[in-house]
Amino acid sequence: MLEELKEANEYVVSKIKEKDELILEMEQFAHENNVPIVTKEVAEYLKFMVDMNKSKNILEVGTAIGYSGILMASIAKKYDGKLTTMEIDETRFNQAKENFKKSGLTNVNMILGDACEEISKLDEKFDFIFIDASKGQYKRFFEDSYKLLEKDGIIFIDNIMFRGYLYKEYPKRFKTIVRKLNEFIEYLHETCPSFTLLPFGDGIGLIKKYK
Ligand SMILES: C[S@@+](CC[C@H](N)C(=O)[O-])C[C@H]1O[C@@H](n2cnc3c(N)ncnc32)[C@H](O)[C@@H]1O
Repeated sequence: MLEELKEANEYVVSKIKEKDELILEMEQFAHENNVPIVTKEVAEYLKFMVDMNKSKNILEVGTAIGYSGILMASIAKKYDGKLTTMEIDETRFNQAKENFKKSGLTNVNMILGDACEEISKLDEKFDFIFIDASKGQYKRFFEDSYKLLEKDGIIFIDNIMFRGYLYKEYPKRFKTIVRKLNEFIEYLHETCPSFTLLPFGDGIGLIKKYK
């Protein structure tokens, strides 16, 4: 999360009263096992966007244990929609499989593999794409998935401002990833008129496809 917004963010999160047992269980599991999942306030915004878009065909890059996947697929279900989600790590893939099973959702298609290869194998169009995997590959994920985005579709990118390291001092080991993310943001500003950068959560990037 961006440190500057910490207090406002804590207030927002304190007002969210989650009741779903499985979601609570997954949040606990993620916390105890250091699994990175969307933060609470980003999860709320993500659900809102999926709902507002009346999304029927969602692609997620980066399943982890299925937390954001369950949130999105539950909303897509209202519109007779489905979720395709991909994960490179087999252990997480299996944990997500178990969680989707527990959720009772039947509108989820899971893919085990590297999104750098798997996205371009897909032969369908999506109206909502959520990119939330390795930040060093964001441009690649974006370019591959944008080709599959329907007109008026939305791409939602999480963690694009990487803990604020894009504009403040950062540990040397993150040099390449910071450079890549800065270049990616420049590229989005130059190529996508709709690109919007939101400074909450860990930074969110939104793109709408006009034609
Ligand atoms: C931040 S987590 C996803 C969190 C999830 N979207 C949520 O909020 O519940 C990122 C996940 O992307 C996966 N990942 C990283 N690189 C990937 C790649 N090239 N292809 C597919 N998955 C990848 C990681 O293994 C990790 O589980």
